[in-house]
Amino acid sequence: MSERFGILLAGGLGTRLFPITRTVNKHLLPVYNKPQIYYSLVILMRAGLREIAIVSTPTTTPVLQESLGDGSEWGLDISYVVQPEPKGIAQAILLCGDLIKNRPVTLMLGDNLFLTDEMAPYLEEALARKQGASVFAVPVDDPERFGIVTLDANGRATDLVEKPKNPASNMAVTGLYFYDSDALELTAGLTPSARGELEITDLNRAYMDRQSLYVESLPADITWLDCGNPDSLVEASQTIKELESKRNSLIACPEELALEMGFVDRAGYEALLAAMPKTQYRAYLESLLAGKSAA
Ligand code: TTP
Repeated sequence: MSERFGILLAGGLGTRLFPITRTVNKHLLPVYNKPQIYYSLVILMRAGLREIAIVSTPTTTPVLQESLGDGSEWGLDISYVVQPEPKGIAQAILLCGDLIKNRPVTLMLGDNLFLTDEMAPYLEEALARKQGASVFAVPVDDPERFGIVTLDANGRATDLVEKPKNPASNMAVTGLYFYDSDALELTAGLTPSARGELEITDLNRAYMDRQSLYVESLPADITWLDCGNPDSLVEASQTIKELESKRNSLIACPEELALEMGFVDRAGYEALLAAMPKTQYRAYLESLLAGKSAA
């Protein structure tokens, strides 16, 4: 059993989106025409991951399970894990310990948005690395708001600081992390931070201390959106609307990815479409079959 395990984090408090998050978890909110959680799910799918745990709050986990199911329609095996309290991003790795066993893990934050086509080459790089951890960093204008990594001339991480007051670099670590099979053991050795959380930065630092934290620097113009506050949520919706219109195609459709990655065959895909209401979304997915011969 060497297949990489995926964790999609969809818990937290969503304080910055209060009072929206008084009635609904932020990962269920729309980003233009799809639920926010679709955008991170398709990145895990694009990385070839089929066994995925969605980790969320006691209230939202059953809602996600009821609405998304076991993932089999997309050729996935989705399980659901409750995080009783938001005790940190790295805690999700411990909570999924029995599912991960001794496998490598990819963890994605459900409020981070990337585009599968833009990320594909970087995902391949991270997947090709059999040992250590890979994170993705983007230059930002406001490093005080992010986990910041300092790189040496060879692109190797030399320092990692969470929300630095005096940032030594402007490279922000994004919410997508690839770990080797030591992740569970290393996480178990972490102690909670002053705010009582198991910090993902501390896990990354553990890899850095072993000289095995690899940082993929993404271009400044890459599409990376954090949908965690009202302005960024609107901006994300606007960006997706504009991109879809410009490209004349939809972004982040799990059905499309399932077909593209060979997770479902044509018959499975057609069955999926047949069960959908007749909407523009379905018409788009149907249009992908045009010109493809029946397999
Ligand atoms: P954050 O944005 O750091 O926290 P939050 O979502 O609770 O929002 P706010 O800061 O406004 O209160 O979380 C980043 C992502 O990680 C987000 O998708 C939620 C998720 N998360 C968990 O699932 N469990 C946790 O314990 C934490 C800290 C975050």
